[in-house]
Amino acid sequence: MSNPTPPDLTIKPRQPGFDLPQPWLRHWHGDNAFKSHFFDAMSLLFPDGERFFIDSVRHYRDRVTDPQQQEQIRGFIGQEAHHSREHQHYSDALRATGYDLDYLEHRLKRRLAFVRKHLPPKVHLASTVAVEHLTAIMADAILQNPDWLEGADPAMARLWRWHALEESEHKAVAFDLYQQVGTSPWLRRRAMIYSTLYFTLDTFKGLVHMLKRDGLLWNWQVWRDGLAWLWGSRGILRPLVRVYLDFYKRDFHPWQHDNLHIIEDYRRQFDLPLQAD
Ligand SMILES: [Fe+2]
Ligand SMILES: [Fe+2]
Repeated sequence: MSNPTPPDLTIKPRQPGFDLPQPWLRHWHGDNAFKSHFFDAMSLLFPDGERFFIDSVRHYRDRVTDPQQQEQIRGFIGQEAHHSREHQHYSDALRATGYDLDYLEHRLKRRLAFVRKHLPPKVHLASTVAVEHLTAIMADAILQNPDWLEGADPAMARLWRWHALEESEHKAVAFDLYQQVGTSPWLRRRAMIYSTLYFTLDTFKGLVHMLKRDGLLWNWQVWRDGLAWLWGSRGILRPLVRVYLDFYKRDFHPWQHDNLHIIEDYRRQFDLPLQAD
């Protein structure tokens, strides 16, 4: 199978610099607790998760001889390192607001330590490939549908759009490396099943914890509206099911979902002001 990654795709880390809300806005997403904490719960997984992605790719980068691919790997590592750092600041703000980040991060840290210690590097890479697909399809949805972040605090919307742009740019880097290392589609499928399960559970756990601390856990309206926002007839996650399932196809490749045009649109937004400086 030929590699559909755009051959001239450049992947460069940006440092847009975010001024997160000061003081922190508990319900930064349009004053909506459910929406805010849905994003918060995902965010707190990123600092540790993205460090793991970097290490799993770094392990195999010596096998790559193509300079273009090496360049893309360098870009991937740089981008994920910036994401990890920015989301660490985000986590610090959540911690300072009174949410128990130690409790929320504990299970992920323990799981990643177990995987690093007991499972081989190809499983690390397969897990990275799987989670990169989860982030890529959500990133694409964030870029395509401004309503995902409609009403959000502008700095927070910018942070998420920046992350979404770079996730889209580098969505195939780990995948292409995985193909080259020569492991089977079965391993990445299994990794996807586990990753989906844990990502969902961890996000749910974070959401429940933060709603509880806000005194909103048993507010049925919050859940009714929140679940409708996610899974209702116009729910934001609904259209993702089909593209999610594509990952299980034998000949799947992330660039079969070609969203280069939308990437270009957002590059103009994020890169032009930098060039003008
Ligand atoms: Fe990232
Ligand atoms: Fe990523």
